[in-house]
Amino acid sequence: ESYDMAGHDTYMHKEICEQPDAVDRVLRGRIDDRFATVHLGGLGIDAREARGVRRVKILGCGSAYHAGQIGAQMIEELARIPADAEPASEFRYRNPVVDPDTLYIAVSQSGETYDTLAAVQELKRKGARVLGVVNVVGSAIARETDGGVYVHAGPEVCVVSTKCFTNTAVAFALLALHLGRVRDLSVADGRRIIEGLRRLPEQIAEILNGEDEIKRLAARYADAKSMMFVGRVRGYPVAREASLKLKEVSYVHAEAYPASELKHGPLALIEPEVPSVAIIPDDELLEKNRATLEEIKARSGRILAVGHRVHEIADDTVVVPRNEPELDPILLGVPLQLLAYHAALALGRDIDKPRNLAKSVTVE
Ligand code: G6P
Repeated sequence: ESYDMAGHDTYMHKEICEQPDAVDRVLRGRIDDRFATVHLGGLGIDAREARGVRRVKILGCGSAYHAGQIGAQMIEELARIPADAEPASEFRYRNPVVDPDTLYIAVSQSGETYDTLAAVQELKRKGARVLGVVNVVGSAIARETDGGVYVHAGPEVCVVSTKCFTNTAVAFALLALHLGRVRDLSVADGRRIIEGLRRLPEQIAEILNGEDEIKRLAARYADAKSMMFVGRVRGYPVAREASLKLKEVSYVHAEAYPASELKHGPLALIEPEVPSVAIIPDDELLEKNRATLEEIKARSGRILAVGHRVHEIADDTVVVPRNEPELDPILLGVPLQLLAYHAALALGRDIDKPRNLAKSVTVE
């Protein structure tokens, strides 16, 4: 991959379309079929140390933070280690308690974001072990961390992150699988996740083939006064990232909420001019999510559902291919990148360089 536009009108479109290859690259050479695990050469943690990790704390900014939220859920699910993500800036300003049994992970596309770098430096100063999940090889965060997982998304030029976000989520799936397999994740579950990972590039290509339909939807939703993105558990970080992406590139106001929190306030905003995007995978929360769609419909809100089947109650549905439930967030986010892109295109925005934003914020 190079900086050549390769026939695309924008880098954002090019980078969205590169995802099948990019995901293939983050997986390449890392899968170990014999032991149903992965090899992450740069991690620098042996099995005994990995077993000693009591907690995982993930730090990043913007899309990297959202990818970290997906990563935290994967680590909890697959490795059963308590994990959470926090904006790096919040972390560094609140004089955090640094715990020797916690594994800290800094996430960054550029590897140069000042807030994330400063959080790493503060952690190192306090003697913590910090890994990086970084795209740019040899960047400041890659150098400062004790080891990590390169994301191998290739150069990302558009200010808003697409392929790097997806690849970061896949990198976290690899890390979660690795941590799981040195702990209690079974061989059978390891195989199941590996097979799921291998299906991703083709399934992403399948989603990208539906671009015309998403373009048609984007034209219909781009005139919204505001948009509400909702999801539960695995769907929630997807909702947050999709909301951020839409804001960044189209300037349409959007909010993201856990679906269950709607009734505690934001439901007051629902009206025909404020459509909702509901992330609704066929997982154990399907019935709960259906109830949310009904709550929104009862307030005459338009609904665009993104899930594994057509939902009659929704005005529109984007169906994505099924994978293993733990890997669902990776695929659910892809059509929403296209939605943000086509909404921005319909509104005539400067897609690769949205106003007021920089690709990486290297100052405080
Ligand atoms: C900037 C960009 C965001 C990006 C964030 C983190 O704010 O506009 O798109 O997610 O920085 O960048 P990083 O390079 O650390 O992933």
